[in-house]
Amino acid sequence: MMTNLNKTLTFRRGLTLKNRVVMAPMTTKMSFYDGVVTQDELKYYSLRTGEVGAIITAAANVQDVGKGWEGELSVASDQFIPSLSRLASTIKRNGTKAILQIFHAGRMTDAKILRGTQPVSASAVAAERPDAETPRALTEDEILVLIEDFKKATERAIKAGFDGVEIHGANTYLIQQFFSPHSNRRDDQWGGSLEKRFNFINQLVDAVISVVDSSNVQDFIVGYRFSPEEYEEPGIKMADTLYLVDKLADKQLDYLHISLGDFKRVSVSEEYKEKTIMEYVHEKINGRVPLIGVGDIRTKQDAEDTLTNAELVAVGRSLIIDPHWTSKVFESKEDTIRRVLADQDREELMIGNGIVEFLDFMMPDRLR
Ligand SMILES: Cc1cc2nc3c(=O)[nH]c(=O)nc-3n(C[C@H](O)[C@H](O)[C@H](O)COP(=O)(O)O)c2cc1C
Repeated sequence: MMTNLNKTLTFRRGLTLKNRVVMAPMTTKMSFYDGVVTQDELKYYSLRTGEVGAIITAAANVQDVGKGWEGELSVASDQFIPSLSRLASTIKRNGTKAILQIFHAGRMTDAKILRGTQPVSASAVAAERPDAETPRALTEDEILVLIEDFKKATERAIKAGFDGVEIHGANTYLIQQFFSPHSNRRDDQWGGSLEKRFNFINQLVDAVISVVDSSNVQDFIVGYRFSPEEYEEPGIKMADTLYLVDKLADKQLDYLHISLGDFKRVSVSEEYKEKTIMEYVHEKINGRVPLIGVGDIRTKQDAEDTLTNAELVAVGRSLIIDPHWTSKVFESKEDTIRRVLADQDREELMIGNGIVEFLDFMMPDRLR
């Protein structure tokens, strides 16, 4: 049966997705210690590709000092291009498009993961989490190098055969750290006011877009992911996010992607309680660029509800647990969707310990 979910969508740069479902970016913790893709990881993606319109990969670090955890994918040097090509070609099957998520952990890592190097961030302020290490503030020159390294990562994604990159500006990592008044206490051109905290994102997005537009690849897309709210004081609030979204919607991005644990979530800000966060964001965008909605989408109804305030849906945990979630939804076989992960299914589904730790933390009700 035809639903809004299996309509195609064509992005600004010409790439067409065969349907509206994308696999949410999810770290697998399955790469080699140095960031090279493993065979297990390829098998994990291969099980889940072919039905969704696109797969957004696990976050890949653009600099060695941007590594956030063990088993993370890397795009930090040309040596990773062959490994990344294997990943892109594994995903690109039966029309599914491959998007590489590029990121830097900033202060959300530690000297152990960085083999003795101190983490870096916008300012020398530790995150509010147990045992957080205080990062070193990046110098002006280092910020410019960082932007160059995101450009190089984009060039590598193009060379490796990906269909696009997603700039990971969400989930408290470095890009978000520049926008957050908690982690950015700078008083130079990169911080101080809302406009200046946006400066890094502004220059970064323009830089990545310039690489794509000056390359000779056709249809390569650029997306941007953001988290709408922080609970820290000071922190990013809905009003800041609506400013960010308004600015980004005027750029030549192919999509914006919100990061939410629940697509129905309502803001913690008193002034924004009448609608869901996604509805406010979608209204602000006002058709300028497609929005990917996300957050605990388990059923066809959830996905269709999400599409009232978004053009695409990202599905994460449901696709980990059932790689054929999409075809079962499209073919009205929802009753056959696997909804709970039993221990004995893990090997067949290529679900490593790193993923299970996450699932345990985010949705203990779906582990058995
Ligand atoms: C195992 C796991 C790993 C994740 N890794 C990433 C990541 O690398 N980048 C990212 O932007 N979000 C990451 N997320 C968040 C997901 O993209 C998604 O926003 C979240 O899981 C909510 O969607 P869901 O309810 O469909 O799983 C991760 C989530 C899980 C469960």
